[in-house]
Amino acid sequence: IPLAGVIGHPVAHSKSPELFRHWLETYGIAGQYVPLHVHPDTLAEALATLPKLGFVGANVTIPHKLRAMELADIVTDRATLIGAANTLIFRDDGKIHADNTDGYGFIENLRRNAPDWDPAAASAVVLGAGGAARAVIAALLEAGTPHILLSNRTRTKAEALARDFGKKIEVVEWVQAPAVLGDGALVVNTTSLGMAGKPPLRINLENLHADQLVTDLVYNPLRTDLLAAAASKGCRTVDGLGMLLYQAVPGFERWFGRRPDVTDATRDAVLS
Ligand code: ATR
Repeated sequence: IPLAGVIGHPVAHSKSPELFRHWLETYGIAGQYVPLHVHPDTLAEALATLPKLGFVGANVTIPHKLRAMELADIVTDRATLIGAANTLIFRDDGKIHADNTDGYGFIENLRRNAPDWDPAAASAVVLGAGGAARAVIAALLEAGTPHILLSNRTRTKAEALARDFGKKIEVVEWVQAPAVLGDGALVVNTTSLGMAGKPPLRINLENLHADQLVTDLVYNPLRTDLLAAAASKGCRTVDGLGMLLYQAVPGFERWFGRRPDVTDATRDAVLS
């Protein structure tokens, strides 16, 4: 039976085992998906050993996303561009194939939950310039977004992204973020602000307006202050849980041979 898992350090917090087990059960597939607690010093050894134990692939999470990409034999262009891998395929010929599906998860979540939104039609405003922002920006550009206003507390990190992703990225001072918040058809929070245990996103939201789509990568809580404020202004809002669920779809399909659906039951399986 096919085996897959999620490699992290720590890994106990990962929602992936519940998600994959829900799908395996839903489709009656005789596979297994396990959490794999792997220290950074032994990642190379683990990646060499897992295929020999019958693993067909793995998700990788913090802190292994960069190193896993470096250790892979074949890396997709989008993983290279993002600078991180989250999905590994252990091929029959022994080679490790590394991809990043976070951007796919991000776009698919919006397409499914806000079908009227056309990524190619207008600008987007992105808050934050960490690893998650790289995946979001790569996905938006691939989907045809013509212009992205990018604001981050540490301006140099936003400038580094603008260098990597090109002229469509316009860097905006963090203190100026509230002023440009109304200037995109889409507003995305990729910072950790608003997450349980982290400080709130304390920026002035008065420029948000009703024809905008607003999404937050934070999914704990599901309804962040940003989403609540946006909804009260009449904006369409999409929470961040869907990105987590959709980013897992390509790996599941590849490893277990069936493209899984994201349903309310899928959300419940991960939230319970
Ligand atoms: P991820 O991979 O989830 O993107 P990350 O790379 O640690 O995680 O990025 C976290 C993001 O949240 C960054 O954009 C970070 O801003 P800095 O680049 O200035 O660190 C942002 N962030 C975290 N805490 C913040 C805070 N208190 N105020 C503003 N931005 C914050």
